[in-house]
Amino acid sequence: MEQVSEIIERPALMLPRLGEPAPQFEAVTTHGKIRLEDFKGSWLILFSHPADFTPVCTTEFMGFARLHPKLREMNCELMGLSIDSIYSHIAWIRNIEQNLGQKITFPIIADSGRQIASLYGMIMPGESRTETVRCVFIIDDRQTLRAMLYYPLTTGRNMDEIVRMVEALQITDEFGVATPANWQPGGDVIVPPPNTQELAEERVADKEVQCKDWYFCQKKI
Ligand code: BEZ
Repeated sequence: MEQVSEIIERPALMLPRLGEPAPQFEAVTTHGKIRLEDFKGSWLILFSHPADFTPVCTTEFMGFARLHPKLREMNCELMGLSIDSIYSHIAWIRNIEQNLGQKITFPIIADSGRQIASLYGMIMPGESRTETVRCVFIIDDRQTLRAMLYYPLTTGRNMDEIVRMVEALQITDEFGVATPANWQPGGDVIVPPPNTQELAEERVADKEVQCKDWYFCQKKI
């Protein structure tokens, strides 16, 4: 019997791309009007959450707020986003401070028109037609998009992993190295593999690096 495959029509989802300029925007936030370009010279973690006054998001906001001082020491700012109104954001962060004792120190975008959510591909209709999923965009000090993480509605994010990602990217920029699986600050880094036979010979003779083989060498920084 002839097989007929079903073609499911889906509207195209625009996603920003790693290594390219982060899409620019101007936003209404709990700290007033903010443009992405205001963060030039500083790293930025732009994250979205599904909705204010929801429990998983509340745990994440507490986590992000606790991280904020450490991120600032790393020249990294933080900004949240959902499609809730500015009044909802204000009421929710006041509630978190009054009931849970955590001050929310970073701005939150009220993206009621979903312009920024569309620009960054934050709405995944299979998860929710209206709410933004749990996205994290790491934007560097020259406003290049360096990393994206997407989590579903029901899974709270791992704050340690988000900071680890910023630390790894900053180490890459400073030392021109890569970081291995499960790398933690202070751990050995990966030296990019040589791309000529001559450099491969030099690499294995290099006393500054520890090589498992010519293409797989690590060092301490
Ligand atoms: C929450 O943050 O608790 C949540 C939000 C949307 C869907 C499911 C959980």
